[in-house]
Amino acid sequence: VSLYENYADEIASLIERGTLRAGDQLPSVRQARATRSVSASTVFQAYYLLEARGLVRAEPRSGYYVLPQAAPAPRRSNPKPGSRRVAVSELVFEVLGSVKARHIAPLGSAFPSPTLFPLEALRRAAAAGMRRLDAWSTVDDLPPGHEPLRRQIARRYLKLGMAVTPEQIVLSNGALDALNLCLQATTQPGDAVVVESPCFYAALQALERLNLKAIEVPTHSASGLDLEHLARVLERRKPQAVWLMTSFQNPLGSLMPEDKKRALVQLLARHQVPLIEDDVYAELYHGSQAPLPAKAFDTEGLVLHCASFSKSLAPGYRVGWALPGRYAERVARLKLMTSLSGSIPAQAALADYLQDGAFDRHLAQMRRALKRQQEQLLTAVERHFPAGTRMTRPLGGYFVWVELPAPIDALALHQAALGHDISLAPGPMFSARAEFGNCLRLNSGHPWTPQLAQAMATLGQLAAAQQHRGTALAGETQG
Ligand SMILES: Cc1ncc(COP(=O)(O)O)c(C=O)c1O
Repeated sequence: VSLYENYADEIASLIERGTLRAGDQLPSVRQARATRSVSASTVFQAYYLLEARGLVRAEPRSGYYVLPQAAPAPRRSNPKPGSRRVAVSELVFEVLGSVKARHIAPLGSAFPSPTLFPLEALRRAAAAGMRRLDAWSTVDDLPPGHEPLRRQIARRYLKLGMAVTPEQIVLSNGALDALNLCLQATTQPGDAVVVESPCFYAALQALERLNLKAIEVPTHSASGLDLEHLARVLERRKPQAVWLMTSFQNPLGSLMPEDKKRALVQLLARHQVPLIEDDVYAELYHGSQAPLPAKAFDTEGLVLHCASFSKSLAPGYRVGWALPGRYAERVARLKLMTSLSGSIPAQAALADYLQDGAFDRHLAQMRRALKRQQEQLLTAVERHFPAGTRMTRPLGGYFVWVELPAPIDALALHQAALGHDISLAPGPMFSARAEFGNCLRLNSGHPWTPQLAQAMATLGQLAAAQQHRGTALAGETQG
């Protein structure tokens, strides 16, 4: 073992034992050289190695800092077998209502902070886009939608190495509209649809609305849906469609490795089952490269890829799209039948904004902010939540999934937290059977403030209080 590996191992063990904690600074290169009588390059190599292992991060012109050491959340969920009708809406509406008030700490919100978006540049693009619109656009831009925007979206796929033409894209009112249209295009009432466990609650609501049954498939908190389980479900249960997220899944944050995405597409092609791929967080990766969607591996037009600008640029504009493969015409017709068309001025504004490099510059900035905020949130979980708490550390997006030790109940914690003006998203929102009663989804999409820090400390105290009460109660009943 070389000198630098030795030094890196020593620091790693200090982190593991908790002597060095999240946010602590490593000794400066000068200090380390002096105290250990080694060269600067040995110290640098050791720090690079620790960075590569995900234990520390470099802060330009400042030094190296210990990262939160997230214990993985449950490696794989374990939903009960069987399909079922879905009813999650009441809880979802209650939680969504609670995040609307501005004075509430938005840890349960599904949105990032509006301050992360380039509002002024969008305002200018909206004015310019409107000036360019001609009177006939109301007719020309009926589904599949405003052509200049479809061309800009197609150009963005090209950056991923995907050859997409504007004709293959159907514009929608946000991704949720696209997802609902794709679900409707691929199913009939009474059909069964595979979803993840846990999954985005709106998928459950869409199933509920269209009278479809959910088959929940276990999902790994790091690598997404369990493909072996899916293969068995496809054999035995003959679902009509699969709806899932392959990158930065909501709520887990899981990211399917590329090989697994390819295998998923091939497996579904063998069974001729369409995949509705919700990819709204794909642009918000923390690393240096955009993840490819499963759609990139689709050779049969069986993947209906849905995305939007809601999470990365302009939530209120309600502009999204589907790339529905062989279902494109059906999806465009359903769009016409259900809402005629999306809003053309909003589509024109985004087409104008996307013409130059402004979106990429904005995204680079937003990704850095989200990565930093995630560290701050994870550090706070580690500092304030009861021992035994586990959490995910996603490689993109802005959600963290937290598993609390027994007997803490996320729904009770949600009620208690609201009393302190704090929102959170309790685990049962993400399950057709109200599972994940000890889990929460927290939002790291907001710049870190003293108020957020205080909210996290309060949440930690509320969780600890629940744990003590629960343990005391269990003691009494046993005694
Ligand atoms: C996973 C997921 N899909 C889709 C959506 C909806 O996207 P849009 O606002 O573009 O309709 C959301 C928003 O919360 C989401 O979290």
